[in-house]
Amino acid sequence: MTTRIPEIISFIRKVYGQKELIPLHEPRFLGQEKKYLVDCIDSTFVSSVGEYVDRFERMIESYTQSSHAIAVVNGTCALQVALELAGVKRGDEVLTQALTFVASANAIHYCGADPIFLDSDEDTLGMCPKSLENFLEENAFVDDHGVCRNRHSQKRITACLPIHILGHPLKIDQVSEVCQRFQICVVEDAAEALGSLYQGKHAGTFGHLGVYSFNGNKTVTCGGGGVIVTNDKQLAKKGKHLTTTAKVAHPWEYNHDEIGYNYRLPNLNAALACAQMENLDRFIENKRELTLIYQEFFAKIGIHFFQEPLGCRSNYWLQAILLENRKERDLFLRELNQAKIICRPIWKLIPELSVYQNKQSSDLTQAKKISDCLINIPSSVRI
Ligand SMILES: Cc1ncc(COP(=O)(O)O)c(C=O)c1O
Repeated sequence: MTTRIPEIISFIRKVYGQKELIPLHEPRFLGQEKKYLVDCIDSTFVSSVGEYVDRFERMIESYTQSSHAIAVVNGTCALQVALELAGVKRGDEVLTQALTFVASANAIHYCGADPIFLDSDEDTLGMCPKSLENFLEENAFVDDHGVCRNRHSQKRITACLPIHILGHPLKIDQVSEVCQRFQICVVEDAAEALGSLYQGKHAGTFGHLGVYSFNGNKTVTCGGGGVIVTNDKQLAKKGKHLTTTAKVAHPWEYNHDEIGYNYRLPNLNAALACAQMENLDRFIENKRELTLIYQEFFAKIGIHFFQEPLGCRSNYWLQAILLENRKERDLFLRELNQAKIICRPIWKLIPELSVYQNKQSSDLTQAKKISDCLINIPSSVRI
């Protein structure tokens, strides 16, 4: 691989033109962004009230074929609220993956619950359904009230938070089937996977609730933002209420019937989001063309390029290669970053972070292997 590095550098430079610094992922503003932002400013409704928020929510519903969408300030808040809506309470436990961005685990912690870390699936990079099933069969039972409990801690295992990694759909039907058997609610972290399809259906719409992120590094962005989707009308109503300070509707009175959050997405961000959504399909097409270019190149030089799982249509948010081991990975990262081609490793396993060290985990062999070998390479939409 070492001898290939100059060739890889010059190939990526050719793919992205001769810019000095090639970022990992830059946003693109090619449509109505400025127009909608100026319109939003002119209207004076830049903050928590305004038409763009509603328009954005309706766009997400129609795009993902979900009955309800709730726009909030970021994907992390969206996860926290979605978990609360799924019934997660202080002292509960939530199943998730060891290999994910820290926000997934943090959202569980914000609910006062403990994460349980499961292994990854090498086909998808997401939660391994077998790891989930084995964990539950060995460590959990459903009590007389239909509540799933951890045999060791006796705590409730209320929810499962599987993550669609880098835009690639995980085996969500299998994960959902196991969770249903154990009476566990599924909240999909599809922060990275807007527009990705699993067997023709949008990632994020299989679980009781799903979450998307619109952070600046995502396929489309509104600066910062998140959306919760669900087909459950009651949950949607509760979610909207909770994220808008639990204010009871009234022309002038300030009455709040529970302790809610000020998580509503500002209209200004929603204006940007609406413009970006209009280009989402075009961006995904562009990324998928880039995939073909990378795929052919890396196949020729014998480097494993990660491709969408079978039966899926990935948005290819971040393109990825897998090297032989951590030593090769680090060498590649050093050389490419030095050449101003921004590449990044995938995350450390969450239970390796000191703050999550003592949590229960399954065997994490696959997750460790992916964490040691995977590198994200420049993935922006090419213009
Ligand atoms: C897997 C995953 N979950 C959650 C988040 C949190 O989203 P946000 O940055 O919008 O809070 C991100 C990324 O940003 C993510 O990649």
